Amino acid sequence: MIPISLVSLTVVVLLQSINVQALYDVPGTRVIISLMVNSCEDGKRSICSNCTTFSLCLGGKSIGEIPCGSATPHCVQGDVEATCSNHPASECDVVERPWSITCPSVGVLPDPVHCDHYHNCLERDSPSELFQCPPGYVFNTVTQTCRSRSVQKCAESPCRAANTVVPFGPSHMYYVLCVPRKESETVEQQLEPYIFRCPERAPFNETSQACEYRCVTQGNFADSLDLNSYFQCYRKDDGGFVALKKGCQKDGDGMVAKFNATVGECIP
Ligand SMILES: *[C@@H]1O[C@H](CO)[C@@H](O)[C@H](O)[C@H]1NC(C)=O
Ligand SMILES: *[C@@H]1O[C@H](CO)[C@@H](O)[C@H](O)[C@H]1NC(C)=O
Ligand SMILES: *[C@@H]1O[C@H](CO)[C@@H](O)[C@H](O)[C@H]1NC(C)=O
Repeated sequence: MIPISLVSLTVVVLLQSINVQALYDVPGTRVIISLMVNSCEDGKRSICSNCTTFSLCLGGKSIGEIPCGSATPHCVQGDVEATCSNHPASECDVVERPWSITCPSVGVLPDPVHCDHYHNCLERDSPSELFQCPPGYVFNTVTQTCRSRSVQKCAESPCRAANTVVPFGPSHMYYVLCVPRKESETVEQQLEPYIFRCPERAPFNETSQACEYRCVTQGNFADSLDLNSYFQCYRKDDGGFVALKKGCQKDGDGMVAKFNATVGECIP
């Protein structure tokens, strides 16, 4: 007979390994980015209408918007007047604080600078929904949720050289394009990482600098990030697979067909 204590110990160990995610992972909460709301009705002579544009006020009304210009591009609101400055107002400082990104694709993306934030993208080229992890948690690129700092550290920016494409995080699902910051005042040019996501089953390959679809059998397979394209998998002479990314054709009305995974074809 196996002693009861040994059985319960095994059960506890099993439960612990099952519960690791439940213990250390938690979803973040949505951060609503408050935009600059200034009004001429508050008796101001001028207001910042947004982070880079100001308006003169006359009789409690705005009389046209004027961009701050390249020398002093940032609008900073004072008690009575708005001024153009070469330093952004704190609520506009996108380097210091996390901000919505322009979505490169649909899906969840890490914030490449602030490891305790992440983005949810519902539509390509539209602003992301920003999420913040609870205190002491950072975004995990594998599980796509927040994980306790007791088991995961905040990743450093992988950018080392300008205009390079490098993987972001260990999952190979994400990569960044490292672009020199335009307004950098330091001699050593800072690099800004722009985050991108690979389609499902297509991890980022550092050598070829591309997301490469992993074929497991021959046929046509959906591109999870693009309804209008698919991956065609076929065997080479040596038995290995080739994956080609194919776009669906336009029909007579200029509408691009959508890939249907059930039939394995583009359907208008
Ligand atoms: C600020 O407002 C101006 C004028 O409405 C607009 O052209 C510009 O795109 C805005 N900038 C941002 C960052 O929203
Ligand atoms: C990455 O790409 C290189 C060059 O195209 C290729 O030789 C290598 O096998 C690829 N690695 C993986 C893991 O697919
Ligand atoms: C894919 O094609 C099948 C067969 O024509 C159809 O039943 C199904 O609704 C299609 N799926 C989508 C998502 O359009």
